[in-house]
Amino acid sequence: MKFPHDFLFGAATAAYQIEGAWDEDGKGPTNWDVFSKLPGKTYEGTNGDIAIDHYHRYKEDIRLMAEMGLESYRFSVSWARILPTGDGEVNQKGLDFYNDVINECLHYGIVPFVTLYHWDLPLTLEQDGGWTAKRTVEAFVKYAEICFRAFGDRVKHWITFNETVMFCGLGYLKGAHPPGISNDKKKYFQATHHVFYAHARAVEVYKSLKQYGEIGITHVFLPAFSTDDQPENVSAARHANEYETFWYYDPILKGEYPAYVVEQLKDNGWTPDWTVEELDTLRGNAAGNDFIGLNYYQPIRVERNREAAAFTEHTRETSTLAPGHASFDGFYRTVKMEDKTYTKWGWEISPQGFLDGLHMLKQRYGDIKMYVTENGLGDEDPIIEGEIVDVPRVKYIEEHLKVVKQAIREGIHLKGYYAWSAIDLLSWLNGFKKQYGFIYVDHENQLSRKKKLSFHWYKRIIETRGEEL
Ligand code: BG6
Repeated sequence: MKFPHDFLFGAATAAYQIEGAWDEDGKGPTNWDVFSKLPGKTYEGTNGDIAIDHYHRYKEDIRLMAEMGLESYRFSVSWARILPTGDGEVNQKGLDFYNDVINECLHYGIVPFVTLYHWDLPLTLEQDGGWTAKRTVEAFVKYAEICFRAFGDRVKHWITFNETVMFCGLGYLKGAHPPGISNDKKKYFQATHHVFYAHARAVEVYKSLKQYGEIGITHVFLPAFSTDDQPENVSAARHANEYETFWYYDPILKGEYPAYVVEQLKDNGWTPDWTVEELDTLRGNAAGNDFIGLNYYQPIRVERNREAAAFTEHTRETSTLAPGHASFDGFYRTVKMEDKTYTKWGWEISPQGFLDGLHMLKQRYGDIKMYVTENGLGDEDPIIEGEIVDVPRVKYIEEHLKVVKQAIREGIHLKGYYAWSAIDLLSWLNGFKKQYGFIYVDHENQLSRKKKLSFHWYKRIIETRGEEL
């Protein structure tokens, strides 16, 4: 079987991780420009000031993507390039840059898939309470409308937010991302609610503009599975799915929050300060959401936690994403399983977990349209005689694409696959050591680009529409 003719083969990046030019052409400072420079926050103090200098090299990068045969490129817009203070004056040079990127994609017939928010928040907004403040919601709606009006004639695929669970969880529970707050559950749930509300408002604006493209949101997809069939572990897996998945997908797709979580938030005093108008807006715009983007890297294996939860500062690898850690509320813990395989960073490799998770989503939400908006292997790529032979990445993507194919055969409505990442980029906390790209960036040699083995492999997959998989 070949992939359907309207299935998009793509790859993705995010502004802060590639652009650099952090203070050029009128761009305002962001939360990450400050946070990444705090001692000890990132691997060897790496930051995105230069990143891989995509701001100045976008033409070369997009030409390489075209050569690889990419049908679509998912990238994010840096809010602070467009609105340097978050909600003040528009910076024309910021609009110019993204117009150039979009036009360059279209020149090669590459479909631009644009994320509005991939974690870099204008600093003024962060200082004013970030996602816990209503100002940020209003500012986002304004920013989104500016982007729709400026780029919407050519951009027909919009993602409002990337992975709310990550930037809110790491930002307000684990202290590992800005604003660097640990264990503030009230703020965490408040921030998530504001994001869902901002999403609904942006959907409303987008539909009112009648640009006839599609708009959705991207979530990290972290299906939880019980380690065995003991009832207490099964209930731990349910708990994990309610908090890590349904809390994020229900308000978007059903327009209301999962009752299981809502009840517990009430009992614990963690309920966000939400208004009837906000809840109505969620309800009223759920039908306007056109798709869900899934960033799938790994499932979690969980069991009931019997120990008191210890709250220390976490990195992403020591949060509940990785085996061996208690959940934020101490209810369950993630477990490393003897019979599973893991990446060098301890992330489980499980294409089957993806397939099972997709069926779980279908069961709960019906026939929703989905894209895999990220999937890939973070690795230290082997270099042999100057060639980057990233065989493990080829294997990883191959196994996941096989599962995507199978899912489509089994009636899951998947319309595209975006590998993470198009090119090696800055990993938020792991610097340049952890690579994901099809294109290598040589930090010892003026950031020159080089095609990896996986580049040639993915090109062939696209050319043959995955027939050999
Ligand atoms: C996703 C993010 O969560 O995971 C990306 O959307 C990120 O921006 C990717 O780079 C991989 O994460 P990490 O921590 O391995 O770089």
